[in-house]
Amino acid sequence: MRKLFSGTKIKDLELKNRIVMAPMCMVVSDDRGYAKSWHEIHYASRAIGGTGLIILEATAVESRGRIKNGDLGIWDDSHIEGLSNIVQNVKISGAKIGIQLAHAGRKCEVKSEKIIAPSPIAFDNSYPIPEEMTKDDIKTVIDSFKEGARKADEAGFDVIEIHGAHGYLINEFLSPLTNKREDEYGGSLENRVRFLKEIVREIKRVWPKNKPIILRVSAEEYMEGGNHPEDLIDIINMVKDEGIDIIDVSSGAVVPANIDVYPGYQISFAEIIKKGTALPVIAGGLITEPDMAEEILKNNRADFIFLGRELLRNPYWPLEAAHKLNEEVEWPYPYRRAKL
Ligand SMILES: Cc1cc2nc3c(=O)[nH]c(=O)nc-3n(C[C@H](O)[C@H](O)[C@H](O)COP(=O)(O)O)c2cc1C
Repeated sequence: MRKLFSGTKIKDLELKNRIVMAPMCMVVSDDRGYAKSWHEIHYASRAIGGTGLIILEATAVESRGRIKNGDLGIWDDSHIEGLSNIVQNVKISGAKIGIQLAHAGRKCEVKSEKIIAPSPIAFDNSYPIPEEMTKDDIKTVIDSFKEGARKADEAGFDVIEIHGAHGYLINEFLSPLTNKREDEYGGSLENRVRFLKEIVREIKRVWPKNKPIILRVSAEEYMEGGNHPEDLIDIINMVKDEGIDIIDVSSGAVVPANIDVYPGYQISFAEIIKKGTALPVIAGGLITEPDMAEEILKNNRADFIFLGRELLRNPYWPLEAAHKLNEEVEWPYPYRRAKL
């Protein structure tokens, strides 16, 4: 059997294959973060197309945690109903679904919001200087992540992904380039990890024990003085016992930097993190070919493959990939006459 189409189980999360839809902001919500018909159709299409695990786009745990006006929100109980509709529509087709809990920090572009970060340093000239977070701000945001997880469970998500990547708030605490604090949340690695550690600890109070938690990281910051995969190993090893089950390995966007991208450019980071933390990893970046996905899994370089833009281009990628790899998979019954 092709590994791409082998099932697996992590805690109660039972997956039919190793194909993960990467979180991708749709920016089609309204200015209050509510889910729209677009979200239901968009995610259900990828479920029909055979994706094993769909991870919903960055969903803000606070309104000032949105990247853009139009991002999904999970800061109010009234968001649960719309999110739950997405979940139900996805599950009809046998896919599992997660949600990425996010806070933009200094990369919030919503003009009406007060922007916060560990230190008052702007991402670049186009962004305002954020306010340095007080201890009260830190407590409030940690609580918002916890509340976000509670709502995600109520909406029926199988898994949550904590957004610790791409230079958003959690990543801003983790990186020595963006965290210049002199209190217990800055300075040493142990201090920079504290914010994430407290978030995971609080989430665990409300998130069911049998449902896994994914952490997305930027494994490489592409800048001298920033975090590299070996630093991420240390960071992950400091938090994993709090309750992290899977690492989703991405990179960059912490500071403006030039990145040399090519198919598989992040796979070696995933490999390093898998070896150094002994946790299952989701790897990807410009993957389009089923053979390449299979090679990465078979050589034990990663446990799951994420696809972003390729699934936007082709929601039926998994069904077509199975055909290309000579793997027998069940097609949705109404589509049986079109089976390749
Ligand atoms: C339209 C779009 C929106 C994205 N939004 C998010 C997001 O909400 N959260 C996130 O972690 N990454 C986001 N990303 C990054 C993707 O998850 C993924 O890591 C990236 O596109 C590389 O994978 P790919 O080459 O398969 O597209 C986004 C990417 C795209 C193209």
